[in-house]
Amino acid sequence: MVRMSRVASLLSFTAAVSTLQTPHAKRVAIIGAGAGGSSTAYHLALYANEASIPADITVFERNTYIGGRTTTVNVWNQSEFPVELGGSIFVEVNHIMMDAMKRFGLSPASQDLISQLAMPELGIWNGQEFVLITTQEESWWDKAKLLWKYGPAPLLTNRLMKSVVGKFLTMYDEPVFPWKSLSDVVERLGLLEATGVTGEQYLKANGIGETFAREIIQASTRVNYASNLGYIHGLEAMVCMATNGAMAIKGGNWQIFASMLDASSAELRLNTTVSRVSKQKDSTYILGIADGSNATFDEVILAAPLQYTDLVIDPAPKHTPDEIPYARLYTTLFASPYQLDPLAFNLAPGSAVPQYVLTTLPPTETPEDNVGSPGFYSISIHDQYLNLDSHPPRLEFVYKIFSPMRVTPEFFASVLGHKVSEDEANYGDINGTVSWVHHKIWHSYPREYPRVTFEEIKLDEGLWYTSGIESFISTMETSALSGKNVARLVRDEWMVKRKEEEGKVRLGNLFGGPASQELLEEL
Ligand SMILES: Cc1cc2nc3c(=O)[nH]c(=O)nc-3n(C[C@H](O)[C@H](O)[C@H](O)COP(=O)(O)OP(=O)(O)OC[C@H]3O[C@@H](n4cnc5c(N)ncnc54)[C@H](O)[C@@H]3O)c2cc1C
Ligand SMILES: *[C@@H]1O[C@H](CO)[C@@H](O)[C@H](O)[C@H]1NC(C)=O
Ligand SMILES: *[C@@H]1O[C@H](CO)[C@@H](O)[C@H](O)[C@H]1NC(C)=O
Ligand SMILES: *[C@@H]1O[C@H](CO)[C@@H](O)[C@H](O)[C@H]1NC(C)=O
Ligand SMILES: *[C@@H]1O[C@H](CO)[C@@H](O)[C@H](O)[C@H]1NC(C)=O
Repeated sequence: MVRMSRVASLLSFTAAVSTLQTPHAKRVAIIGAGAGGSSTAYHLALYANEASIPADITVFERNTYIGGRTTTVNVWNQSEFPVELGGSIFVEVNHIMMDAMKRFGLSPASQDLISQLAMPELGIWNGQEFVLITTQEESWWDKAKLLWKYGPAPLLTNRLMKSVVGKFLTMYDEPVFPWKSLSDVVERLGLLEATGVTGEQYLKANGIGETFAREIIQASTRVNYASNLGYIHGLEAMVCMATNGAMAIKGGNWQIFASMLDASSAELRLNTTVSRVSKQKDSTYILGIADGSNATFDEVILAAPLQYTDLVIDPAPKHTPDEIPYARLYTTLFASPYQLDPLAFNLAPGSAVPQYVLTTLPPTETPEDNVGSPGFYSISIHDQYLNLDSHPPRLEFVYKIFSPMRVTPEFFASVLGHKVSEDEANYGDINGTVSWVHHKIWHSYPREYPRVTFEEIKLDEGLWYTSGIESFISTMETSALSGKNVARLVRDEWMVKRKEEEGKVRLGNLFGGPASQELLEEL
């Protein structure tokens, strides 16, 4: 009996120590299942596992789908014909996206449409004429380099872009990663000189000629960020020129984020809006859900621009992100059997219009903080599908337009060279000029005005924010990087706390805590 009781006592002693060492699993709430929130869940699960810290992660998403601003819609509402409605392209230097594509066995979308279509690949339209048309055989840079009219500008731009991207890429690795303050890291890396001035000023300071800046770089800042060069900072302008190895995931980029969430084993609560975040006296947070329920967490990660979450944070955190202007961008996807009408672009009848029409301003027009005389940012062909529901069935092109206003029936008719009724422009007509259409208005990304400080990442004890990075660079990759950074900061804090707690336990043992006291008496 004595032996038994000693064993029992030993067991209870071990249990007492182990509950001290490993308290309940860390309860983590992530608000948002876009690139930022999914990456946070994925990386936090990995980091926590590495450190043997149990983490219980819940992801709340108010939409009924994963992906946020990275999502697809289906042409003719048929699931075999998905097309990107938001974030559509990532590039070779986007390491998180590229690695995830490989790890999760996702395939890149095929790029052979260009050769199938037998039309020039890219044209830059200034509202009066095409200032540049390229064909697919040569890369952007090969082509541009050959253009005598730009002098050394293409080469200088490429060099400048590489140097800026090189600095940015150090943010992925120690000792820069993980960073606690984006403002500090941008300064430390020498990137303030790019974020603090307009693209126009930055290019001028680096000796890049005005014609190349206006015709090529501005066409890029317009299609990517709906901005002229004088209204976007130098870093984001350079990001627009980093186009090497551009690709997309077959079936939709959102699958990267769905795979990340799946791999994280987080509990995913779609169609669930978080309406309130309340900090408690014990430093935990109660999340109020729109349906009236609530739940308690140790850490809360806000992975969406605060100003569009309709969240009440109570009490106000130490740092509240400022409301900033976002672009209001109309994205219009549609299908039509017709190619773009050369007459709409002042080309001779019968000539082929490029597959991607980007826009810039004519030299006589002073750029303002708006779209200017061309009236739209870009119009491009993305796919070619067979419309089986029309009579007779016909091969159609799937187009995307970026514009600051809703596309009108007159605009459709003008660029397609065929009549389009009001109803057709709104809803599509399966037998008509526009057989299918999807109108979407996005708060797509911040207006990337020059700035030298960025929002805090840690808003308060246990409250984190991924979306401040959007004023620095707004892409799927940078949101994912921001999520990874927050995941690492959270895990590092847990490790520090665990060390402190282990220290306390060891001290407790030395001086005879209640459990060891009991054991001594028993012995
Ligand atoms: C038209 C367009 C084109 C683009 N093109 C590109 C491109 O080619 N390449 C590229 O890299 N990037 C592109 N982008 C940008 C890219 O899509 C975004 O930067 C990125 O998807 C942002 O991810 P995020 O997770 O930070 O934010 P979001 O995707 O906005 O995710 C935030 C999520 O939080 C959810 N949420 C918000 N509030 C709440 C709440 N209270 N409760 C629960 N859930 C909430 C939202 O529903 C949303 O799903 C484009 C964007 C648009 C709109
Ligand atoms: C699209 O298809 C889905 C089923 O695939 C259906 O539930 C929905 O009503 C359709 N939407 C439209 C606009 O036809
Ligand atoms: C989303 O939730 C609401 C109730 O909160 C429900 O009425 C609706 O049907 C749900 N939508 C989907 C697609 O599940
Ligand atoms: C949370 O919900 C419970 C019931 O589920 C309720 O009793 C409690 O008051 C709620 N707390 C808050 C802070 O809303
Ligand atoms: C398309 O045209 C065919 C043949 O004229 C007709 O039978 C069909 O109803 C039309 N569909 C629509 C939606 O107008």
